[in-house]
Amino acid sequence: MSVDNSGLPDGWSQRPAVARIDDCLTGGFNNFPADRQLASRLVQEAPWFPDMVRDNRRYRNRVVTVLAREFGIRQYLDLGCGLPSLWSKKLQRHDPPLTYESAASVHADARVVYVDNDPVVYAHARTTLDVNSSTAAVFADIRQIGELLDDPAVRALDIRQPTGVLLNGVLHWASDESAHIVTAELREWLADGSAISVTHATTDMAPETMRALVGHYAEAGIDYRPRTLEQISELLAPWEILAPGIVPTAQWRPEDGTTPGENPGAYAALATPTRSGP
Ligand SMILES: C[S@@+](CC[C@H](N)C(=O)[O-])C[C@H]1O[C@@H](n2cnc3c(N)ncnc32)[C@H](O)[C@@H]1O
Repeated sequence: MSVDNSGLPDGWSQRPAVARIDDCLTGGFNNFPADRQLASRLVQEAPWFPDMVRDNRRYRNRVVTVLAREFGIRQYLDLGCGLPSLWSKKLQRHDPPLTYESAASVHADARVVYVDNDPVVYAHARTTLDVNSSTAAVFADIRQIGELLDDPAVRALDIRQPTGVLLNGVLHWASDESAHIVTAELREWLADGSAISVTHATTDMAPETMRALVGHYAEAGIDYRPRTLEQISELLAPWEILAPGIVPTAQWRPEDGTTPGENPGAYAALATPTRSGP
């Protein structure tokens, strides 16, 4: 891939990118006409698509809070972290909160390493997400999970301690083989007491619409691979899936007093590594 003199790949802003599409769907400003055009086709096909992105971001806050409070986890690896959600002047934090904001609200000494393979996301991660000595941003691809785990910023985590790994909205951009390798290598790498969070697009609930969305992404040169519950379960087969299981994202431990939304696009699950031998 050639790069221009900014260090970004040639024509980067003319091609839609998944992180910028999410940004556009949630009212952000870090997107370009190519992103907005594809986002608008996606919404025409699936009017619930922006809800799916919002549900995914809200889920991140719920799951990180659970990991911090109930599992006592103080360090996080956010794989495919995406662009930051919008800053709320009223709340004086991002809304929904960023991974570090959720984790540090429970443990002030929480650490987070943000990872993404999109150079524009990485630029934002270095500025907006990497805010103090407890955070770091890494430009890496989950499909090269060995190299990623060997990055100095990741190695700076204390691997003897439990880690919370977020694989939210990222495995459905990877082939079956890559996705299996990622979950298998993480299982070997993680200390006992760790957990992975997965959100994953699915064809189960709205198969025709999902197939059309896959087609729109494909026209833009992006491989989108929503999977069935059975396929997602296979990806997580050697893991112990915690209650409430693999469920539609909004229904994963909804906050008290909230009614889960209806978007039919994705599942969420929290899983801990099981060990195969002594
Ligand atoms: C749909 S966004 C999800 C963002 C965030 N995790 C969330 O749940 O809101 C997917 C992100 O994963 C990143 N991504 C996709 N494939 C990746 C890969 N192979 N390695 C690292 N990041 C990847 C994209 O650049 C994008 O920022």
